Amino acid sequence: MATVVIDTDPGTDDAIALIMALNSPELEIKGLTTVGGNARLTHTTANALRLLDRLGHPEIPVAAGASRPLRGAYEYGYGFHGSGGLTIALRPVDSGPHPLRAAEFIIDAGSTYGPDLTLIALGPLTNVAHALQRQPVLASQLHKIIVMGGALEGGNVTPYAEFNIYNDPTAANVVFSSGVPTTMIGLDVCRQVAFDRNKTDWSDGETVGEELAAEIVSAWFEFQPDQPIYDLCDPLAMAAVVEPGILTYTQAEVVVATSGPRSGETRATTGARSVKVATGVDVNRAHATVLARLKTPEA
Ligand code: BDR
Ligand code: CA
Repeated sequence: MATVVIDTDPGTDDAIALIMALNSPELEIKGLTTVGGNARLTHTTANALRLLDRLGHPEIPVAAGASRPLRGAYEYGYGFHGSGGLTIALRPVDSGPHPLRAAEFIIDAGSTYGPDLTLIALGPLTNVAHALQRQPVLASQLHKIIVMGGALEGGNVTPYAEFNIYNDPTAANVVFSSGVPTTMIGLDVCRQVAFDRNKTDWSDGETVGEELAAEIVSAWFEFQPDQPIYDLCDPLAMAAVVEPGILTYTQAEVVVATSGPRSGETRATTGARSVKVATGVDVNRAHATVLARLKTPEA
């Protein structure tokens, strides 16, 4: 059993990763922390609360975090994820976020669960960086951090930068140099795992998770009529947590460019503060893992 806190900016693919996490008995989810990124913080927080409600887990706390990066401002992903950040409208809920802010929630979880705690970061790394800066001992308490972000090569915001890292490159440097065992699952690997517009039989809609994932993805294909595939970025990061053998890795020091035309580029070289960087994926196994985890496990 892994004790996890999921830092997220839902976000259509964050939503699918959350469905997977809730259907994974190996994970004990202590809370979600939200960050601006795909949408404004108010949207990502409302989306997290509504997703948990729809999926039957309103008891999981949601702590709201950063509405801006360490420097500058987020460039939101509404053009990709739809107005509100989710392509579909979910029922509003009465409950609000946890009284602690995200960074404090992460610090508190670090001291409570210590070496058992894995952070799964699916958005810009602002909350994680705030927590590490405010409580330096956190770096020696955490078991590991799994990051969806960056790439050994290429980008989706610029030719050099992936969205999550582009939106807070300074925070990414804080995390990658923190000394916490960190895994980077980048865009170049994630993009190999996708749903195809013309293959819609992956969901029979029999469980609440499959039904919700199918609603989100089919609404996304309607919203993006020219896109032939839907990349499963955050879902692949979640798949890597529950099925560790599906990715291959190399160890590298990762330094992020924080200014200029290549801002957000993740540069991997050999070095001391080493990060485990994904280099390849077993596409069939990854796909099968995502699909399996959309289903509610039998009791
Ligand atoms: C990442 O950026 C966001 O659009 C997705 O949710 C994912 O976390 C992919 O670059
Ligand atoms: Ca995300």
